[in-house]
Amino acid sequence: MTRVLGIETSCDETSAAVLDDIEGIPRARSLVILSQDIHRVFGGVVPEIASRAHLTAIVPVVQQALRESEVSFEEIDVVAVTYAPGLVGALLVGVNYAKGVAFAANRPLVAVHHMEGHLFAVTLDHPEAEPPFTALLVSGGHTLLIDVPAWGRYHVLGSTRDDAAGEAFDKVAKLLGLPYPGGRHVETLAAEGDPRRFRFSRPMLHKNTPPADRAYFDVSFSGLKTAVLNAVNGSDNLERDTRDIARGFQDALIDTLTEKTFRAAEAYGRRRIVLGGGVACNRTLASAIRSRLESLGATVFAPTPRLATDNAAMIARAGLFRYTLGERAALDLSAYASAPLPGQV
Ligand code: KG4
Ligand code: ZN
Repeated sequence: MTRVLGIETSCDETSAAVLDDIEGIPRARSLVILSQDIHRVFGGVVPEIASRAHLTAIVPVVQQALRESEVSFEEIDVVAVTYAPGLVGALLVGVNYAKGVAFAANRPLVAVHHMEGHLFAVTLDHPEAEPPFTALLVSGGHTLLIDVPAWGRYHVLGSTRDDAAGEAFDKVAKLLGLPYPGGRHVETLAAEGDPRRFRFSRPMLHKNTPPADRAYFDVSFSGLKTAVLNAVNGSDNLERDTRDIARGFQDALIDTLTEKTFRAAEAYGRRRIVLGGGVACNRTLASAIRSRLESLGATVFAPTPRLATDNAAMIARAGLFRYTLGERAALDLSAYASAPLPGQV
């Protein structure tokens, strides 16, 4: 059995988890996530505040994760920590803490790429979500369409050319006067909206784009965001129109992501689809992907909200994978705002 302590501080969640790998089935014994509410009043994450909040929270959050899993530091075999991508000051808090713990307890340290963590998240509930699969990772900072023939082999087919999906949700939420982060508020409003009143054009879905062209898999949301802005500015009764605009926006964004996921699964003959990242909390997105990919006989795995958003259980899980490959991080490990996915082909 291998027991991993996972640590995640890449953005505005301080999180720690203890994960046990028992006979090849990794299970989270505990998962503690502390979300930094303070950013709400600023309408977005303030990096300096995030770093300071991680500093205050990291020790009690790890202690809580150990307490809930009823294990001590001595009973941990491996320490796994997110080193990239994210806010460097925030990442450094987790990285330095993990280094200290690994050194003091004389345990190996493993560096985890945050997006590889998101790829593994759904396996904690569904161990059968194994490669080969098509992955759609949609968060506040990233939108990635990846073909995964095997763990550790990642073929990034498409990404966003401008805003990430979650960023588009958050910006539209702001335009509609909703609190930050706004994704779930937009989803709630959209559910009550009329789909016929605002039909925004679907970006990057031209029928004659060949699969060899990167545009076949890439997405872009800035035009859609501008269309929403124009609709808001053009409205003479925003209170009446807000729901319908939210619906029009969400329909356009979901149609685009669904179609791109279909294209990737079809092009690579995949029958499993893995969703990850905060936007994967959106039930309308998951059910749209399910029904669109039904004709391919595909199974769609969507993580629960706790595992979809940033959390240390997914970092521990990806860390276990890297540990099993024999990877070890040195004590001069640093943090990086961006880094390619390991094993990108
Ligand atoms: O993965 P995540 O927790 O953090 C990043 O790594 O960015 O994702 C946060 C994003 C935010 O943009 C938030 O608005 C979005 O996920 N989100 C949603 C929903 N719940 C969270 N977007 C759409 N619908 C939701 N239900
Ligand atoms: Zn994330």
